[in-house]
Amino acid sequence: MNWENELTQKLGVTYPIIQAPMFGVTTPEMVAAASKAGCLGSLALADLNAEQCLELIKKTKQLTDKAFAVNIFVHEIPEVTDELREKYSKTKTFLEELAKQNQIEVNLPEINEIKVNSYHEQLDVIISENCKIVSFTFGNLDNQSIEKLKNNGTILIGTCTSVNEALILEQSGIDIICVQGIEAGGHRGSFTNENIPQIGGLSLLSQVRDSVKVPIIYAGGIYNARTILAAKTLGAEGFQIGSLLLNSEESALKDFEKERLKKLKEDEIILTKSFSGRYARGIKNTFIEAVENSDFILPYPYQNKLTGEFRKAARIQNNSEFVNLWIGQSIGKLSEESTTIILKNLIEEVDKN
Ligand SMILES: Cc1cc2nc3c(=O)[nH]c(=O)nc-3n(C[C@H](O)[C@H](O)[C@H](O)COP(=O)(O)O)c2cc1C
Repeated sequence: MNWENELTQKLGVTYPIIQAPMFGVTTPEMVAAASKAGCLGSLALADLNAEQCLELIKKTKQLTDKAFAVNIFVHEIPEVTDELREKYSKTKTFLEELAKQNQIEVNLPEINEIKVNSYHEQLDVIISENCKIVSFTFGNLDNQSIEKLKNNGTILIGTCTSVNEALILEQSGIDIICVQGIEAGGHRGSFTNENIPQIGGLSLLSQVRDSVKVPIIYAGGIYNARTILAAKTLGAEGFQIGSLLLNSEESALKDFEKERLKKLKEDEIILTKSFSGRYARGIKNTFIEAVENSDFILPYPYQNKLTGEFRKAARIQNNSEFVNLWIGQSIGKLSEESTTIILKNLIEEVDKN
């Protein structure tokens, strides 16, 4: 296949394949390993504070001299009302009880102890570190931020899960759109509606292609040559690979998490708001069942922050029933080889087709 296209030129890569940003899984080593395969690495910065972002960017720069994308969460921060305080307190009590019943020792934060970072503080670090590719999810950047980044020569990649979201991104001057099909592992990038659009990749990608002119990256369910070629036929110039890299050598997952992923059955994968307050795709477990059957789901990012301490404690105990294990719908063999090898094998498979 002739891989060269508008995206390879814009992103300065040999192959228009993007190692998906996966917060909690992606490491600077994974980003460097993707670059080594001639692909674009993406450093997941989620909603980390400026100092943490700086440390990760610097570490990645030490491992690769290639350009990589930094990925951030661009979301609204709900106001802390009396109603939210009350619900937070009840949810905290519910989770403490759940932890106790399952012999997990937790120390959950009070709402006043939670620090919610805004993406604006991340942008200053991103600009001062001269990161030239920024991808984002959960929303759209405000006009001022778009202008600031563009003045620094930054290429912007926004995530959509509907045609409407794609149009909003294009109209605000975003350079590249990442179309995320419902198959994708992890959080939905949806940002226009409480009820997320649950559109399959086939329908979504083709319709977004009909609606926007900017280059498109497709994310969701890509795991082999056939899925890449299908996405290409439907209008994608770039291919974002997430779940396929979950068990790779450079993944930050612990051994018990990788073992759980290896045993996964297809009917165990669901969309849930229970961990973070936003819909994400992952493996159904005891935590999800307990929270889904309760009234205790706070808006993002409060649910995320509150359950974060719970998950940390469960992770220390290697307890896969109480941690979030995100994965998409294409759950074939999860290789434990290096990200470089996994991506190179994929490229070779496409080239043989
Ligand atoms: C464990 C995990 C964490 C993720 N974290 C992020 C993230 O931090 N930022 C983001 O834009 N997308 C995130 N995603 C979504 C991926 O970037 C990508 O859209 C998705 O993995 C593609 O679908 P696939 O898993 O079927 O390959 C995550 C996905 C997974 C599986």
